[in-house]
Amino acid sequence: MERFDISVDGRAVPAEPGQTIGAALHAAGVRSWRSTRFGGRPRGLFCGIGVCFDCLVEVNGRPAERACQLEARPGDEVSTS
Ligand code: FES
Repeated sequence: MERFDISVDGRAVPAEPGQTIGAALHAAGVRSWRSTRFGGRPRGLFCGIGVCFDCLVEVNGRPAERACQLEARPGDEVSTS
């Protein structure tokens, strides 16, 4: 499979086969997409191994998916809000 795009909040983000959504975001220069409940500090990839839940996104309508664990698929619709 060749490189493909996923949609993140309506923006095309390139992804490589086998790459997680979190890795695709990181490669695109996106370092955070959530904020802490108190203080509004940035959250995104932190542990990268599925433990901290800092990287949650909605994928194809499924809420609370860990971006660091979920492999990107062609046509994925990702929402960070
Ligand atoms: S970065 Fe920690 S669970 Fe995804």
